[in-house]
Amino acid sequence: MFKVKILIAGLMVSALPLQAQTPVYLDDNQPIESRVEDALSRMTLQEKVAMTHAQSKFCSPGVARLGIPEFWMTDGPHGIRPEVLWDEWDQAGWTNDSCVAYPALTCLAATWSPEMSHLYGKSIGEEARYRNKTVILGPGVNIYRTPLNGRNFEYMGEDPYLASRMVVPYVQGVQENGVAACVKHYALNNHEANRHTTNVIVDDRALYEIYLPAFKAAVQEGNTWTIMGSYNLYKDQHGCHNEYLLNDILKGEWGFDGVVVSDWGGTHDTDQAITNGLDMEFGSWTNGLSNGTSNAYDNYYLAQPYLQRIQSGQVGTTELDDKVRRILRLAFRTNMDRNRPYGSMLSPEHYAAARQIGEEGIVLLQNNNQVLPIQTGNKPRIAVIGENAIKMMTVGGGSSSLKVEREVSPLDGIRQRAAGQAEVLYARGYVGDASGEYNGVVTGQDLSDARSADELLAEAVQLAGGVDYVIFVGGLNKSSHQDCEDSDRAGLELPYNQDAVISALAKANKNLVVVNVSGNAVAMPWVKEVPAIVQAWFLGSEAGNSLASVLFGDVNPSGKLPFTFPARLEDVAAHQLGEYPGTPDENGIYQQRYNEGIFVGYRWTDKQKKVKPLFPFGHGLSYTTFAYGKPKADSKTMTADGKLAITVPIKNTGSREGQEVVQLYISDKKSSLPRPVKELKAFEKISLQPGEEKDVTFIIDKEALCYFDDARHEWVAEPGQFEALVAASAGDVRGVVPFVLD
Ligand code: GLC
Repeated sequence: MFKVKILIAGLMVSALPLQAQTPVYLDDNQPIESRVEDALSRMTLQEKVAMTHAQSKFCSPGVARLGIPEFWMTDGPHGIRPEVLWDEWDQAGWTNDSCVAYPALTCLAATWSPEMSHLYGKSIGEEARYRNKTVILGPGVNIYRTPLNGRNFEYMGEDPYLASRMVVPYVQGVQENGVAACVKHYALNNHEANRHTTNVIVDDRALYEIYLPAFKAAVQEGNTWTIMGSYNLYKDQHGCHNEYLLNDILKGEWGFDGVVVSDWGGTHDTDQAITNGLDMEFGSWTNGLSNGTSNAYDNYYLAQPYLQRIQSGQVGTTELDDKVRRILRLAFRTNMDRNRPYGSMLSPEHYAAARQIGEEGIVLLQNNNQVLPIQTGNKPRIAVIGENAIKMMTVGGGSSSLKVEREVSPLDGIRQRAAGQAEVLYARGYVGDASGEYNGVVTGQDLSDARSADELLAEAVQLAGGVDYVIFVGGLNKSSHQDCEDSDRAGLELPYNQDAVISALAKANKNLVVVNVSGNAVAMPWVKEVPAIVQAWFLGSEAGNSLASVLFGDVNPSGKLPFTFPARLEDVAAHQLGEYPGTPDENGIYQQRYNEGIFVGYRWTDKQKKVKPLFPFGHGLSYTTFAYGKPKADSKTMTADGKLAITVPIKNTGSREGQEVVQLYISDKKSSLPRPVKELKAFEKISLQPGEEKDVTFIIDKEALCYFDDARHEWVAEPGQFEALVAASAGDVRGVVPFVLD
């Protein structure tokens, strides 16, 4: 019976008219590479060229007649940008495109939690997917070289290892939703001044040891499907079509099989765009920021000029087919993957994620006399002072600006948390930037205040004198030159007379807490006058709730600084040795030498004998205390292909649960080339109940001992003496374990 059935079934199938077989490129069961080749073979020359450049501000064409969808890009790293008009930066006026704003990426880095990073990528990826976006233009991983850089808030700090560990889960979380991450800005876009005309001159050691690792991890471990080229030049070629960065390193050494997207307005030359690794051109003819005039997309560098070069025989189609293969691969990974999830937006889970990431990233910098957490037993009176307690922070700052469904301000968060337990009063303290608009998104707040600085100060001091706690919420605010794209800060100091206000408040009340909202280090001349200091980042939609949770002790702070807080700007290598921001040559190109080489951040600080940072890389306090036992290695020797296990017992010696980030640095005691005193090579965030003790074990291999030998162009681990340093921060080493590499 069974045999007969097959026979009949067989007859039936063969008898059917030869229905059109599903084309390979549309068949989900076919391997992606087969689908790519099949689709490529069906495309005309014009369709291929059209695919390599934008057709609107944020989208590029698919192939309508083949059913290959368009590609939709969206900013940004902290949330999904509101819809703009077809060919403008201005708002399209939709009413269904408000989003959740997640904390800025410096806050994510400050969590030192790959788990939080995955949660972040998954959540923001769900929103991008729900909005039917192909690519989310983020995350950014440019290294924190100077505290003046306007876009540090969009990046993950000064250390290549921390940034590498934190970028991978974000990329994976986004791409699990069938949306491509677009890691940016590749590479060497480390400040905003003259960002289109700066030619970075940096030695290969610094390039490979400091500025590339996070991008390399995103490609080789995160498997990012797209990368964005940078505006600046390197070796006199723009980052968006740079043969060294894109062809030799990204696609050559690292084997990147995805799409290189230009930054908006980052393409400047057709021939270089053809041969130097650019795959998709966006935003040409604008500086990536100014309102676009009506861009004739046919005149883009990879549009008619490219087609004409091919048709005249001046160039072949080898590069074109490579670009289109990569773009088709992107299509099959995203728009044409029938199995990808559907996404979601504005869900309770997304708000919970934003809040938790904020709570885990807030850094308790100082807490003398245990002023924090706020005690509400005796129904205290609390004065909240400062413009950043009320000013919306999700609007502004450049392309990462958002239109949120809601944003809880620090004042609102504190008021809601303290309801019924404390009386909360407010005074402005100072006036910074009363405006609130970006690309047509308005905050709707009226922050105008005609009072003089003295009047504002007097009101704040008077209030502060009559309460139990004063919480000053200030810092920067994403206005121009205050942590904002396309502009750097002029100095390390807080703007708007805040230092005077803080000093006056410190005299008026001993229970002063200063909350610094920023994406950058700031000078703190009042650091000895102020008992408690909290680094609170740009925290997004749940800002006030995340902050209040920490201030009132519902959450024990566990954030650690992802960059050094220098006491003075001249303590920073980029400003000590230069150059910053570079010097213009006869063509108006700013030649910008990274004279400090690999000695960035704590790598520089560690070499200074006299200079100490205000707060070191990796620093962050808790409401409990942790004891580090003696670290031990499972061997005194590491063989060339072996591993070494370093174990250290950590105990919560306080009275409440808490999380600690145990850091492992490696020090090469003798090397042929100069090396930093120590370098972060492992970390683990652990949670401990009061009295609980856990062993933390780090397994390191030769890779953790390597430096990049630029003469030999390879990574080298030299046999000899090393030390593993177990630390609570770059300035707080708790144990040292010597060992030898065979
Ligand atoms: C901007 C930024 C980039 C952003 C792009 C699109 O100029 O440099 O990060 O994704 O243009 O807005």
